[in-house]
Amino acid sequence: MDWGMENRLAQLFQSDGHGMFMPIDHGYFQGPTRRLEKPGEVVKDLFPYYDAVFITRGVLRSVVDPGHSKPFILRVSGGTSMARKHELDNEGITTSIKEAIRLNASAVGISVFVGTEHERQSILNLGKLVDECEEYGIPVMGVSAVGAEAEKMQDVRYLSLSARILAEIGAKFVKTYWCPGFEKIVETCPVPVIMAGGPKVDTEKEVFDFVYDGMQKGALGIILGRNIWQHDYPVAVAKALRAIIHENASPQEAQDIFTEEKEKAEAISAKV
Ligand code: 5RP
Repeated sequence: MDWGMENRLAQLFQSDGHGMFMPIDHGYFQGPTRRLEKPGEVVKDLFPYYDAVFITRGVLRSVVDPGHSKPFILRVSGGTSMARKHELDNEGITTSIKEAIRLNASAVGISVFVGTEHERQSILNLGKLVDECEEYGIPVMGVSAVGAEAEKMQDVRYLSLSARILAEIGAKFVKTYWCPGFEKIVETCPVPVIMAGGPKVDTEKEVFDFVYDGMQKGALGIILGRNIWQHDYPVAVAKALRAIIHENASPQEAQDIFTEEKEKAEAISAKV
C-alpha cells in the first residue's frame, strides 16, 4: 500500500487497529436531525471521545476549527432528501476529489444502495470514486445504505451481499449495520468492517451489547451517531463505548462506566 494511503488509514484506525468514529453527516439528506440541529455543539461536547468524524464539507467548514480538528471522513455522496423518501437511493457524487484533498480528508465516504432501483448507478459511483481516490492515496469508505427499506438493517444475507460488493469494487473499509449473525458479514468481506448505529434504541445497554458482540466477531470499530448524540447523557455513552472499542471492556463494564459518568453529570447539573 502506498505511504499516503497507509498514513491516512492510520489517522483513522488507532494503534490497536480499532476506530471510534462520529457520524454527523445526517443533515445531507435529513436536514436538521434531532439533537444535531446545531452540529457545532455536538462537535464541542463529543470530539474528545472519538478518533475521527464523518462529516460534509459544509458542516466541516462552518463548525470545525481547522486549528483544533480531528481526522475526518468526508461525506461525498448525496443529491436526495427525505422529502422524496422513495428516491433516497438515487445518489450521485456531490464533492470532488480536489475538494477532499484541499480539506485534508483522511478518507471519503459514499453510500451504495445495493438491491434498489438505482443499485447500478450507486455501484458505478463507488467505482469511479475509488479510481480517482487511488490516484491520490485517499481511502474510500463504502457505506452500505438501505434507503427507505429499514428492515434490511437486520438482514444478514442482504448486509453480507452489500458489504462484499462494496469491497470488491474497491472500498478500503465498509460501514454496515450490526445484525444477528454479524460474523457472516465480517467473514465474507475482505476489507475491514465498522458498525453504524441506526435509529436510537431504548437503552444504552442494548448498544453496549451489540457493539461488544460485533467487536468480538471481528468489526474494527464503530461509526455511531444517534445512539450517542441523541442520548440524554452522550458523554457517558461515548466514554463507555470507547472502553469497549479500545480496552475490550465487557457490556457490564461499559454499563458501570456509563452509570458513574451519568452520576457525575447529574451532580454537576444539580450544583448549577
Ligand atoms: C447517514 C449516515 C450515518 O453516518 C450513519 O447512519 C451512522 O449514523 P447512526 O449511528 O446515527 O445511524 O450514513 O446517512
